[in-house]
Amino acid sequence: MSAAELFAQSYSREPLGVFSAPGRVNLIGEHTDYTGGLVLPFAIDARAWMAAARNDDSVVRVVSAQRPGPVVSVALDQLRPDSPAGASWAGYVFGAVWALREAGHQVSGFDLALDSQVPTGAGLSSSAAVECVTTLAVSSLSGLTLPPLEIARLSQQAENAFVGVPCGPMDQMASAASQAGSVLLFDTRAGTVENIPFHPAADGLAVLVIDTRVAHSLADGEYAKRRASCEQAAAILEVRSLREVSIDDLSAALVTLGDDVLVRRARHVVTENDRVTQTVELLREAQLAKIGDLLVASHRSLQYDYDVSCPELDQAVDSALAAGAVGARMTGGGFGGSVIALVPTELVDTVISQVTTDFADRGFTAPLPRIVAPADGARRDQ
Ligand code: GLA
Repeated sequence: MSAAELFAQSYSREPLGVFSAPGRVNLIGEHTDYTGGLVLPFAIDARAWMAAARNDDSVVRVVSAQRPGPVVSVALDQLRPDSPAGASWAGYVFGAVWALREAGHQVSGFDLALDSQVPTGAGLSSSAAVECVTTLAVSSLSGLTLPPLEIARLSQQAENAFVGVPCGPMDQMASAASQAGSVLLFDTRAGTVENIPFHPAADGLAVLVIDTRVAHSLADGEYAKRRASCEQAAAILEVRSLREVSIDDLSAALVTLGDDVLVRRARHVVTENDRVTQTVELLREAQLAKIGDLLVASHRSLQYDYDVSCPELDQAVDSALAAGAVGARMTGGGFGGSVIALVPTELVDTVISQVTTDFADRGFTAPLPRIVAPADGARRDQ
């Protein structure tokens, strides 16, 4: 059932607007967004739709096509980060309304109906899609015209402060500001974005995303530990963030850090920023097939230095490469979730069957492959 149909069925009236926001994958630039780094994600063609209309009851109501059950509601004056509303799936929705009001915007009650096709637990930012579509729907129907960067900022605030997940700014920015046919270069230190053309099909390549089916969770503490290590390393190096450490300064910085864990964490971040820069240069020169080695180097760095991979992610990367992918790496926070592989179009089936066979041989749950293409960020559909 579409979001509009669900709305009509749940509230016995028509919505005033239907909006959508996508999930994302990250091409490269992993675990750099919370330390001032560079990231290169793009929105995928899996979206969350929200049908919406204001109400006069000072209550936010939401119903989801994926969570059969009654409408969930919270009174506007009860919207607080510590309210029980934040604990359920509806927390992403309520958090976005809360963040808009926190920012001083006049937002009344709303009736909302959500239909999200972004898979959950696959590392494809289903939560950012819900936050961004809510922020866009509620702000637009409140007469506000917020730029994509502000939609992203408020949506991240919803996730950080209301839902309580300490994510960086990448996912919400990708969902809010992406454009079809391009990757989004986001400089998290400068707070600027640039859409870089990305047309793998024109080079005979497909982007294959392989969901390992290992559920990942950013809330389980390891993510926060990585953030803390980056902050500690920056403090020892007396810089604001690890972005201040250039690839040329890296050797000296590692000597100063000394500690094995901090050395490996900082080495990942600094080399990863450099890999993003190199990837962007290759994309600008229309040398897409040459980014493969950078993707693999990114994965090895996440596997061995940043310690955020897992056996299923490593297997998916190794199998994809063995079957002819030009590059592959884990994408997103890690500890499960998905791998992104750049694959010659004629080898897509071979890669999928290799990964599937190797997973079965190791007794892993069957992986879920999907071809993705860069899609538009959050928008109004009706
Ligand atoms: C998760 C977070 C992002 C980012 C990635 C790792 O997706 O939500 O902010 O830190 O992990 O690159």
